[in-house]
Amino acid sequence: MRSKDLLGLYDLTADEILSIVDEGIKIKALIKKGKKQFTDLAGKSAVTLFYENSTRTRCSFDLAAKNLGMNVINLGVATSSVQKGETLIDTGKTLDAQQNDFMVMRHPVAGAPRLLAKTVKAHVINAGDGMNEHPTQALLDFLTMKEHFGKLDGLKVAILGDISHSRVAKSNLFGLTKLGSEVRLFAPRTLMPTDIDQMGAKVCASREEAVKGVDIVMGLRIQLERQHAGNFPSLGEYAKYYGVNDEVLRYAKPEAIVMHPAPVNRGVELTSSVIDGEQSYIEDQVFSGLAVRMAVFKALA
Ligand code: CP
Repeated sequence: MRSKDLLGLYDLTADEILSIVDEGIKIKALIKKGKKQFTDLAGKSAVTLFYENSTRTRCSFDLAAKNLGMNVINLGVATSSVQKGETLIDTGKTLDAQQNDFMVMRHPVAGAPRLLAKTVKAHVINAGDGMNEHPTQALLDFLTMKEHFGKLDGLKVAILGDISHSRVAKSNLFGLTKLGSEVRLFAPRTLMPTDIDQMGAKVCASREEAVKGVDIVMGLRIQLERQHAGNFPSLGEYAKYYGVNDEVLRYAKPEAIVMHPAPVNRGVELTSSVIDGEQSYIEDQVFSGLAVRMAVFKALA
């Protein structure tokens, strides 16, 4: 890695992305064989700072650091001095003074991890910043795709859902276009960024056009916490006209897989039959998350 930090896939080269993905595939294979304890980063320390809720990302960073032999501190932002008004920069300097080697941060404001990275000596990993990027989610998605299909170059990927508010969509788009995949997008016009045409993806006019002949169908969560009312009439209408059900999925290749970063709004972005169906790789994505986050720690160290 050329950089001290992992802030977004916009900053990485295709080779950097692929080396993390390939290392993650090797780590996942070792974990599948029963190896859980690695000593690569023994004696180092990581702190997680989550200013927004998380289940998957926070748990997997915690476990990834412990699997590599690190000491881990999970800073409870709600019970920390952040609540007394301490600034992000002062919090970062405090954790730096304690000689932490890594800071993993999720924050509701786009750019907050970049500000922290400029302030501290530690390696900063962006675990999701506002509507900007979620780089380790995209890396785990690539690991899942490459492990299944043996390649990323030439894959056709349909991403459906709340593109505007989604940091997962942006990181996937930045990465997949660098890696030679074809990306198709579909969403209500109110949930599609106006400048999306300049980002290398094809904007489709229907679910069927987006999904036709693709290898991967990726649903995105409707981010009710980030949007104002009125982007679409109701969740029921969203599901009916924009969600993925078994009928829509039949337009994809027969061997296509279904992905979603989760948490899923069941029955909205995807029907339960799709989430729990044979083509669903949503739980496998979570396993990939553990492996790829171990690979990210190793690459930065
Ligand atoms: N996919 C994802 O970021 O999930 P969490 O919000 O549970 O971390």
